[in-house]
Amino acid sequence: MAHTVGRVLVTREELVQRVGELGQSLARDYPDQNPLLVCVLKGAIVFFADLIRAINAPLTTDFISVSSYGTAPASSGVVKITSDLSISIEDRDVILVEDIIDSGRTISYLTRNLHTRHPKSLRICALLDKVERREVEVDLDYVGFTIPNVFIIGYGMDYRGLYRNLPYLAALEAD
Ligand code: IMP
Ligand code: MG
Repeated sequence: MAHTVGRVLVTREELVQRVGELGQSLARDYPDQNPLLVCVLKGAIVFFADLIRAINAPLTTDFISVSSYGTAPASSGVVKITSDLSISIEDRDVILVEDIIDSGRTISYLTRNLHTRHPKSLRICALLDKVERREVEVDLDYVGFTIPNVFIIGYGMDYRGLYRNLPYLAALEAD
């Protein structure tokens, strides 16, 4: 089955506005703690790049790469760290930056994993929350948009590797 870009769910302008607001909240909550913002690769790259520039406070960045086994478009629930952080998070204020929370399994696994490394604090900032799909409970500290149960592409998010470069969020459409 072929797939194409479907209806636009969040425009470029709405993304700029909302990511700016999230950046202001983070700057307010972490004015001088030098938090470590962790980008969950690959889907969060575009959000992360915009978010850090919207935070007017000192911060540090690092990256972690995870993959879920299986070929289903959404996470199968089994998560593996394919590329780990490059620095210690012990005693750091850590903010995990994710593109989208679906079943919640990826972020739940990551949170548990990072907690074993003894950060001073650990919070989650997700651009999108697909709340209807939740299978495991997760506490999200910062959320950009709550979205309906449709498969999202663009602004870093992919379908089989494609569409990450779209500057807006769209639904994936099967034709
Ligand atoms: P979860 O573990 O089910 O919460 O899935 C989280 C991961 O699955 C996200 O970080 C994305 O990489 C991927 N994912 C879930 N829903 C979508 C979607 O609608 N579009 C693109 N990727 C998605
Ligand atoms: Mg992701």
